[in-house]
Amino acid sequence: MKEFAKQLEKLAEDILEILCENLGLEKGYLKKVFHGHGRKLGGPTFGTKVSNYPPCPKPDLIKGLRAHTDAGGVILLFQDDKVSGLQLLKDDKWIDVPPMRHSIVINLGDQLEVITNGRYKSVMHRVIAQTDGTRMSIASFYNPASDALIYPAPQLLNNNNNNIIYPKFVFEDYMNLYSAVKFQPKEPRFEAMKTNSSIATA
Ligand code: OGA
Ligand code: NI
Repeated sequence: MKEFAKQLEKLAEDILEILCENLGLEKGYLKKVFHGHGRKLGGPTFGTKVSNYPPCPKPDLIKGLRAHTDAGGVILLFQDDKVSGLQLLKDDKWIDVPPMRHSIVINLGDQLEVITNGRYKSVMHRVIAQTDGTRMSIASFYNPASDALIYPAPQLLNNNNNNIIYPKFVFEDYMNLYSAVKFQPKEPRFEAMKTNSSIATA
């Protein structure tokens, strides 16, 4: 199990490396950002959450998991291979992410949207309750160090095509805000971090 987690963590780091390549960022740039200063408890965190979604006779009255974007970096999701329910929001429409055997769903969180200056976006997703069958999922979260300084990569500053000005902040401060407003849109979070941050100047 330990070895399995280690390999998953390595996969998340490999994905960061591929993103760097896609974005034209220097090798290791994202990994370096995620490592922070390493002064406190050290580098990036990797955690796993196992969820169980029992069936519900009246699924329209309830959500398995309400719509949200994930806060962190790279999320690796093993879905139940039989019971569906996961959906993502694309062009204002909810799209099913059906169960796929032997596959890992990769999801990017808010931090990567900020660092990539919106080139990669964190995706809104939710889990719909089902009438039949219990759904299981295993989600692993690869997140920046708590003291990591998060801001748009200077190299990508001219490439902003969605008119959001992204803030600069310490990851821990973002998480403190996120835990209270997880199920709200991300834009006000980004806005709040412009004034809410514990860093005074750049
Ligand atoms: C999450 C999440 C989806 C799932 O934990 O943030 O989106 O399938 N989970 O459990
Ligand atoms: Ni999520």
